[in-house]
Amino acid sequence: MKGLFITVEGIDGAGKSTHVRWLHDYFVGRGREVVTTREPGGTPLGEALRALLLDSDHPMHPETEALLMFAARREHLARVVVPALGKGAVVVSDRFTDATFAYQGGGRGVALAKLEALEKIVQDELQPDLTLLFDLPLAVARERASKTRSPDRFEREHVEFFERVRTGYMERMRAQPKRFRLVDATRSVAEVDQELERILTGLELA
Ligand code: TYD
Repeated sequence: MKGLFITVEGIDGAGKSTHVRWLHDYFVGRGREVVTTREPGGTPLGEALRALLLDSDHPMHPETEALLMFAARREHLARVVVPALGKGAVVVSDRFTDATFAYQGGGRGVALAKLEALEKIVQDELQPDLTLLFDLPLAVARERASKTRSPDRFEREHVEFFERVRTGYMERMRAQPKRFRLVDATRSVAEVDQELERILTGLELA
């Protein structure tokens, strides 16, 4: 069985976590070994970096932020993603490199050429087989996010930041269209999961 690398992306409040659980159950139901994980994070060191990135009050240069994202990613790939894919598992990651292009590139203005250089160092040619991009208007996303938790360092950003993040995701999708599927996240959880099922059946991934 060939390993399968699926990433889930979108602005904060798009509902990714709910659909990551659904994806896990979908593949387990089809007899696949599934590893669900997240970025930044997924390893003990990665989770420590996540705490710095999401919760620290220290000022952080945008390129420092990007470097820490890629540092956590290097560890995540080496210890979790690549070994799991080698065993033939399905890896479902709640965010991956597209988030760096959207948040640090689009949101914070880090030059995309610099991010591309880091991507090459950390991933070489490795890219997800499928990226599900959950998209919805900012106002809806903010309303949802504010209901579920207290905001982290990113979630405290203003509307314009998230508009740039959303645009950053769209540009990344245009640059690498084959692996992306755009999912309208304004709909109910059940409707979105039906669409995910159609996407996965269409791609014959299970
Ligand atoms: P998120 O995935 O939304 O988790 P939770 O649902 O627990 O809030 O939080 C991760 C945050 O990290 C999110 O605001 C986006 C940000 N992020 C980046 O800025 N760059 C990256 O490369 C990644 C992976 C995440």
